[in-house]
Amino acid sequence: MKILGIETSCDETAVAVVDENRNILAHNVLSQLEEHLPFGGVVPEIAARAHLDHLDGLVARTMAEAGIGYDELDGIAATAGPGLIGGVMVGLMTAKALAMATRKPLIAINHLEAHALTARLTNEIALPFLLLLVSGGHCQILLVRDIGDYKLLGQTIDDAVGEAFDKVAKMIGLPYPGGPHLEKLLVHADPVAAAKIELPRPLLKKKHADFSFAGLKTAVRQFIGTRILSEQEKADLALAFHECVAEILIDRLTHALGMIDTSNISTLVVAGGVAANQYLCRELKTFCATKDLTMVAPPIKLCTDNGAMIAWAGVEKLQRGEVHNMDVAARPRWPLYSGEK
Ligand code: KG4
Ligand code: ZN
Repeated sequence: MKILGIETSCDETAVAVVDENRNILAHNVLSQLEEHLPFGGVVPEIAARAHLDHLDGLVARTMAEAGIGYDELDGIAATAGPGLIGGVMVGLMTAKALAMATRKPLIAINHLEAHALTARLTNEIALPFLLLLVSGGHCQILLVRDIGDYKLLGQTIDDAVGEAFDKVAKMIGLPYPGGPHLEKLLVHADPVAAAKIELPRPLLKKKHADFSFAGLKTAVRQFIGTRILSEQEKADLALAFHECVAEILIDRLTHALGMIDTSNISTLVVAGGVAANQYLCRELKTFCATKDLTMVAPPIKLCTDNGAMIAWAGVEKLQRGEVHNMDVAARPRWPLYSGEK
């Protein structure tokens, strides 16, 4: 089974071909970083236009690199939400046109579900598993009972963790997306100086698994005040921030574990762009070892938005016979879990 996957929900135009044996036959990500740079964040209209300009060419290039014809595909998968609606529409409409022209099934993918399932593309992971989904728009802990069956255990009540990374990075003059830039500063940090920077741990020890990052962001802003930080101070602040985020994530995961029957759960999957952070992954791995859990995070290039995760989610869905009609709509909001928490 070979699936073409298209991702256009934010500022990456991405296309990949993946088969059911977990081979990525071709994989291309075109970042729009340059286009959005002057604005310090993603501008939805610019993103949609850039997807429109590049997607057809990227599909053709990816198919050529995969070395297969359209007749050899078994389905066309595309992100149908959640995301910036203009971009999602460009990707989904392209997928519909391709599905119609090639008479192959269309598979509309939830972007969050694709992040959630990426670890099954790279690792043998049994269901059920615990999922920490940490991206620019989301911060959730979910119990993945089955493909399509997600129980929400906790989520952010304000900012997503990636958003907190991006905003803190911006405060110290780093470009968007700030997460990777903030992480790069860690090598220069002085742990003793970092320990002296007092940052709040919102909701810590609260008897639920929800997150809050807005107060942390404000505390960083107050710490900086009107000063221009030296490079050393920036690095120390980056470490203090990482330590704080790690402690919050671990505390909330501890509470989430207390909310479920863990007897048949052996894996914590960390997914979404923030899962690319090696500091956080190391801390989470150490935590998991104390709970008899194995921590799995996809390789960095598959943590941030990409086409392979959409194609793989397409494989998982098509294997279960889940396909969509041409009237499936692009959705700006599309929660993973249904109803009950
Ligand atoms: O999943 P993703 O590519 O897009 C969304 O669906 O949101 O996540 C992007 C987010 C951004 O906030 C970015 O700063 C963050 O992931 N990110 C990181 C790292 N790499 C990406 N955050 C911390 N450390 C990183 N290494
Ligand atoms: Zn994403």
